[in-house]
Formats: sequence, structure tokens, C-alpha cells
Amino acid sequence: MDPKPEAVSKISVPLILERKLRGEKITCLTAYDYPTARLVDEAGLDMILVGDSLAQVVLGYDSTIPVTLDEMLHHLRAVRRGTRRALLVADLPYGAYHQSEDEALRASIRCLKEGGAEAVKIEGGRKRASLIRRLVDAEIPVMGHIGLTPQSVHSLGGYRVQGKTLESATDLLADAQAVEDAGAFALVLEGMPRELAAIITARLRIPTIGIGAGPDCDGQVLVVHDLLGLSLQPRAKFVRAYADLAGTLREVFGRFRDDVRRGAYPADTESYHWSASLREQFEKWATPRSLKDEG
Ligand code: KIV
Repeated sequence: MDPKPEAVSKISVPLILERKLRGEKITCLTAYDYPTARLVDEAGLDMILVGDSLAQVVLGYDSTIPVTLDEMLHHLRAVRRGTRRALLVADLPYGAYHQSEDEALRASIRCLKEGGAEAVKIEGGRKRASLIRRLVDAEIPVMGHIGLTPQSVHSLGGYRVQGKTLESATDLLADAQAVEDAGAFALVLEGMPRELAAIITARLRIPTIGIGAGPDCDGQVLVVHDLLGLSLQPRAKFVRAYADLAGTLREVFGRFRDDVRRGAYPADTESYHWSASLREQFEKWATPRSLKDEG
């Protein structure tokens, strides 16, 4: 008899909260397609984020601003099909929650109903408190995101580390508290000094998930293309590339090109063949005809 398949312990929102109480680190990676989601899920990561970084690392936009809710949903559905165990979080893209709370609620419901997300992520602190409360009241778990929030690239004047002055650090502390008080279950801290992230992490009851915020956060998230060395962009200081897939892919594509050009691909062993009897039948049938053609 086959051994029993290993039990899949589904990661849920309460489990993520428990992790902080137990002092266990939370792991999160982004994914935008089925195979990556399957591999990340099977590797035992706690959360998969379909981030709006999709815009830059997969769709080739120069910021996260242009990506639409429909584009996000297309990728979210693929990731859903590849995710069994991890908690699946969908980023609400720029414009999907900026015009009204009703619109944000509709966008979030689409992420859950059509995309199979189990939570949504929105950028912003105090100014999003009322929206977070509204979504949580509608049974939608929310992950906050403060610090270097890429959807604010134009108002921040670029991708700059935040919280480097007393005033902005105090603002971020107030933002973090407001997100927790509004009912979010976790908070992404992006692009801020380690010291500030550590203070926020110590003050909050909900877990903080850091990206470019140092090692004292309750968990860490990275964009999967950065981790794989596949993002084709200059690497930020905080990114640890565990592989050089861009280099590997360049090399592999070049080898294929060269093999085809010199006739080395496909080999006979990579070709389909007739059976000996079909070859024989064909030869009997074709030979008199070709002899007739020659005559
Ligand atoms: O879009 C994204 O991938 C994100 C993470 C970097 C947190 O928001």
C-alpha cells in the first residue's frame, strides 16, 4: 500500500498571529504564476503574496502604478491553482481602493471570490484605518503595508528609505499603531531603518513582515524574482539573491540557439520513429511508384 500522503497543515490568519506569540518567524514570498506558486507552497513558506510588483517583474511596466485589478486577478487565479498550504494574500493595485471604500470593498471581494485570495494587502497607514476597518467588518483579512510604499512613488519622490528623521519615524509609528487598531492581522514594513522596524515590531501585537527593514521583524518577505536573480533590475541593498537564474537562462537560451543552428538538436533519440513493419510496408508501397515516376 502507498504510504499516506503527508498531512497538509493549512496556514490560516489565526495561525499567523499565533506565530508572533510563539516567537516563530513568518516566511513569505511573492508568486505570480502556477509553477512558482506550487514550488513555493511545497517548500513550506507560510504566505504567498501576489504582489503588485507583478507590474515590474513580470509585465515590464516601469512602476506598480499601471497594473490593473483584472491583470492582478488573472495572475492570482493561476497562483491559487498552485497553492494548497500557504496563506494566499492579494495586493490591491493602485486605483482599486483610492476612489471610495465601496470600490475597495468590491475589489477585495473580487480577489476573494474570483481569485481565491484569503486576505488582501493595502498600502498606507492612518489614512487607510477606516478602510481597513470596513474590510475587516466584511470578513476580509487585511495586511497593512507602510514605509516605502511603491504605489506612492510619485509623492515620495522616488524609492527612498523612509523613517530616517525623528518626524517621519514618529509618523510611521503612528501609522503602524493605526493599522493594528483598525484590525489588520499583519503589517509589511518596507524600506526603513532596522532600529525603527524593531521598535514597531516590539510595540505591535500583530506580526510585522519586513522587506528592507532588518532582521528584527516577525517575518520576512521578498519578491521571488529578486531572490532568484531574475528581476533584470539593479539589486537593492536588502536583496539576497540565492541564485542567478537570469545568467542560467541566458546561457541555456544561447545553447539551444546554437544547437538548432548547427543541426545538433533534435538528435535521433529525441525523434519519433516508425515501427519496422510500417517502414517495410511504406517501402513496398512507395518503391514501384517511384520507379514508375522515374520511367
Ligand atoms: O508587491 C509586492 O511584491 C510587495 C512586497 C514587496 C511586499 O508589496
